[in-house]
Amino acid sequence: MILVTGATGCVGRAVVERLISAGHAVKLLWHWNHEHPVPRRVTIIGGDVRQPETLKAAFTEEGDIDTVIHLASIRRESDTDAFDEVNIQGTQNVVQACRDHKVGRLITMSCLGAETRSPYPLHRSIGRAEEIARGSGLNFTVIKSAVVYGEGDWLTSWITGMARSLPLVMPTPHSGQTKLQPIWVGDVAACIVRSLSTRSTFRQVVPIGGPASMRLDEIMATTLSATGRRRRLVRLPTSMTHQLAGFVARFRHALSEPEIEALAYNRTTEIGAVHRMFGFVPAKMGAKLDFLRPDALKPELNVSLRGWPTA
Ligand SMILES: NC(=O)c1ccc[n+]([C@@H]2O[C@H](COP(=O)([O-])OP(=O)(O)OC[C@H]3O[C@@H](n4cnc5c(N)ncnc54)[C@H](OP(=O)(O)O)[C@@H]3O)[C@@H](O)[C@H]2O)c1
Repeated sequence: MILVTGATGCVGRAVVERLISAGHAVKLLWHWNHEHPVPRRVTIIGGDVRQPETLKAAFTEEGDIDTVIHLASIRRESDTDAFDEVNIQGTQNVVQACRDHKVGRLITMSCLGAETRSPYPLHRSIGRAEEIARGSGLNFTVIKSAVVYGEGDWLTSWITGMARSLPLVMPTPHSGQTKLQPIWVGDVAACIVRSLSTRSTFRQVVPIGGPASMRLDEIMATTLSATGRRRRLVRLPTSMTHQLAGFVARFRHALSEPEIEALAYNRTTEIGAVHRMFGFVPAKMGAKLDFLRPDALKPELNVSLRGWPTA
């Protein structure tokens, strides 16, 4: 049985769907009391990666685990969530639980640009988590991905959130020149599920990205076009981006000032990486944005699993 943490997130949902269609038995570590659409045909155990005792229950109750896909993480700190505790200690706890319960296989994710010496706290914490997986002694795979898009992602949510708030123009940070390599969440999920049986991914960090390097202004234009909204992109040079970061950070699904600053850096990898490692060509961005169309079907009403203690 495969245990998935972070199963209700953007990547987690796509991974669980693909695991179920491939016939795998799946158990989810479900973050206490949070509301999400409940997938069918899975075992759900409430828990928190910061709490080793809840991981113990997830590893021991209702079916033996042989593989862990660890995707639980936060992108932003709050009064209750810190990078050190969730991204770093959470990964350490998952690794320890794998050791304690003799689970040998761990698949997890990192992002391009994540390094322990990154100037950005989020990327530093993910870099540290990556280091923990690499040093775990387990048969690990770290999928080190370019920016991911799909239902619930931060990238298109940010762009569409700004477009909803601003009627005519869109401020485009860093003159729109930053190069990213967006990859569709369904393709990321395919890479993760194929890693289960792709030996060349064992004990490896595997960089992946979409089929093209795209400038931020191209990504914004592609996203806006999928929503049917027309906006004139106003390219703000990096110096003005810094000055206006507070303004740009005010909108729905806004990025914080450090997140906008982190967008100044190109984050791309080899274009053919997915094909070379996993044998398929990832989708072009314009082809997988149906979820942004005004008439797109939204997931069913959220369901809250009651009866769990409050975190
Ligand atoms: N999205 C990208 O562009 C991107 C790019 C490269 C790599 N990655 C990596 O991919 C992985 C998944 O990212 P994502 O975009 O799917 O993130 P996401 O949408 O924010 O989902 C994060 C998941 O982690 C869960 N979670 C948060 N804190 C937890 C805790 N203390 N205990 C247990 N579960 C907790 C969340 O549950 P609740 O919502 O209920 O709290 C949610 O299911 C991360 O490792 C991320 O670094 C993402």
